[in-house]
Amino acid sequence: MEIGIDKIGFYTPHFYVDMEKLAHARDTDPGKYLVGIGQEKMAVAPTTQDSVTMAANAALEILDDEDKQAVDMVLFGTETGVDHSKSGAVWVHHLAGIQPRARAVELKQACYGATAAIQLAMGHIALNPESKVLVLGSDIAKYGLRSGGEPTQGAGAVALLISANPRILALDKEQALLTEDIMDFWRPIHSDKAFVDGKFSNESYIKFFTTVWNEYKEKTGRTLDDMAAICFHLPYTKMGRKAFRAIIDEASEEVQESLKQRYEESIAYNKVVGNIYTGSLYLSLLSLLEQGEELTEGARIGLFSYGSGAVGEFFSGTLKAGYQQYMLGEKHQEMLDNRKELSIEEYEDIFEQSLPTDGSAIELEVEKDPAPVVLAGVRDEIREYINK
Ligand code: CAA
Repeated sequence: MEIGIDKIGFYTPHFYVDMEKLAHARDTDPGKYLVGIGQEKMAVAPTTQDSVTMAANAALEILDDEDKQAVDMVLFGTETGVDHSKSGAVWVHHLAGIQPRARAVELKQACYGATAAIQLAMGHIALNPESKVLVLGSDIAKYGLRSGGEPTQGAGAVALLISANPRILALDKEQALLTEDIMDFWRPIHSDKAFVDGKFSNESYIKFFTTVWNEYKEKTGRTLDDMAAICFHLPYTKMGRKAFRAIIDEASEEVQESLKQRYEESIAYNKVVGNIYTGSLYLSLLSLLEQGEELTEGARIGLFSYGSGAVGEFFSGTLKAGYQQYMLGEKHQEMLDNRKELSIEEYEDIFEQSLPTDGSAIELEVEKDPAPVVLAGVRDEIREYINK
């Protein structure tokens, strides 16, 4: 039985910052952000959006009534969850209208959470072929104004419906994994901004990639020539490019050209959204499938997931015939095109806004946010979510 990705939904907030203007405001050569980092625009979340609302908005895009009855597990990968106890999965389960006899839980390991969720979903469906699992990756990446990580921020969510007989990508059973206790990127409980050892995080990413790639090759006997494309976790689009460079010479010249072209296609969305942490790898897959050249049935796509701290995994899947019918490229392009550009002052103002931490209530201006699911306010320390 084949198990894999049946549907993919995506949501990003309606604000963005232009990276060239951000570079000028930071007295930096724009070439550094546009080419050196590889980012053109950066999504910014208003206070009416958090990891729960973004995940619910991505889920609502793909779930029909039949899915809502069939989903019996909701797995929420995030590193910017909103509560230390209650999982975002329970809120999304409610906001998306999923039937009640379901398991709902949040998973955390930096940007790796959604990949762990997919692998758990595979096992669950192998035992329960009629089930569908909703996997969510949703985050707001924040490093701080004027910090080294500032140009690598972003916000957004991806929702994946995992099922038997998937219509988009059948996942292969083999994976290669690596876990090591390192401090390349972390966020202490008291802080809403991440801490990072930038250079070490880049080096670790590449080391993890080459290690799991070599192990995947050994386990499967497959080589780069067997891959139609490789999608990477993309904290910024130059990162995947750097990792790819470490192995690209393994392919024949013809395959190298084609893999490089596919890489450009796989970064189209990430370049204008920024880092969405847990969802970034799947946003890259979405870019490839929605913005790239049509791929043939059975084409194999490699996927590299990296969550700082750190866990890395390389896995793969093969495309199903007619996958294009299930992609929502036009809708996603429209969502990106309809965003409002923020001035640097507006961005800094939104960045500094936060919800009260002294127990007082707040009512937010939900009419200014075009998304269906929004955070309406906080009362008695309880977040009030609404689906307009
Ligand atoms: N034109 C073109 N390129 C330029 C340039 C110019 N005018 N000026 C600089 N550059 C290039 C540099 O040569 C460099 O290229 P290489 O990486 O190929 O050497 C690139 O721009 C970046 O320049 P710096 O290394 O000087 O940049 P920096 O020290 O300010 O920091 C960063 C870059 C480390 C990525 C920083 O933004 C950061 O810490 N980001 C957050 C951490 C991160 O994303 N790490 C990635 C791996 S960890 C992970 O993947 C998990 C996760 O999601 C966080």
